[in-house]
Amino acid sequence: MSPSSDYTFGDSELAARRLELLGSAFQETTRNFIASAAPAEPALAVDLGSGPGHTTVLLRETLHPALTLAVDFSPAYVEQTAERAGGEGVEAIEADVLDLPERVTGADVIFVRMLLTHLRDPLAAVDLWRERLGPDGVLLIEEVESIATEERPLVRYLDLQRAMLTANENRLEIGPGLDQSLRDHPALRSNEVTTFSPGAGVAARMFGMNFGTWRDRPEVTAANDAAELDAIAAGLGRVATAPEDAAPITWQMRQLVLGA
Ligand SMILES: C[S@@+](CC[C@H](N)C(=O)[O-])C[C@H]1O[C@@H](n2cnc3c(N)ncnc32)[C@H](O)[C@@H]1O
Repeated sequence: MSPSSDYTFGDSELAARRLELLGSAFQETTRNFIASAAPAEPALAVDLGSGPGHTTVLLRETLHPALTLAVDFSPAYVEQTAERAGGEGVEAIEADVLDLPERVTGADVIFVRMLLTHLRDPLAAVDLWRERLGPDGVLLIEEVESIATEERPLVRYLDLQRAMLTANENRLEIGPGLDQSLRDHPALRSNEVTTFSPGAGVAARMFGMNFGTWRDRPEVTAANDAAELDAIAAGLGRVATAPEDAAPITWQMRQLVLGA
């Protein structure tokens, strides 16, 4: 992982499996957004922070671009994107999204999902990416607005995740800040929030996998003892195996579209 990384979730096999589950859980919400906000059959579509390539596949299947470029700074994810989405008309590139190669230029569509949340200066990134659009191009942003649940193990996990991200100058629920900063932007085309409830069992499984990737980070172990962390992991396990007894969980996703 690049030393300039703000990315705290890593690119281990467990992290990739979490993104796979996330990919299928969030698929329809994202597909609807892309279909309604981006032009069909664009010459160039770009997936920034593509992870293992689930969003790249969605972009390609929804829009049928002549060329789709996927960019991520994790070599493992670039390889997985190439395997999952590669082939004719799709290319996976290893690069920092804050230092894009020249060929990411004149794009008709640039798509980012759950990436700004990991960047220390998200608004600077938005400016940088808009420069890579063609004159009629659109930048599609999909980020977390809120995650609401009353299920105790999910609440405990989310509180800890918020604290961990804050310690790394990242923000889990970045949507309200994006709304505030971008709502009067002259290039803003649309700004909406969509609601989505994947089920407590799926959420607990995603959270459990994610927890496994960051629970041993020093800022987490310094602030929480091992018994407390074990209790959170066990609670997530209980919800994952008996989701029928659990309270619901609802994501709100902010979906923004900006022109060049
Ligand atoms: C939460 S994942 C989202 C993946 C994918 N967009 C999705 O929604 O399934 C964020 C991805 O952004 C990548 N990433 C984070 N910061 C990056 C940077 N500065 N440059 C390139 N990739 C970055 C990570 O490696 C990871 O694959």
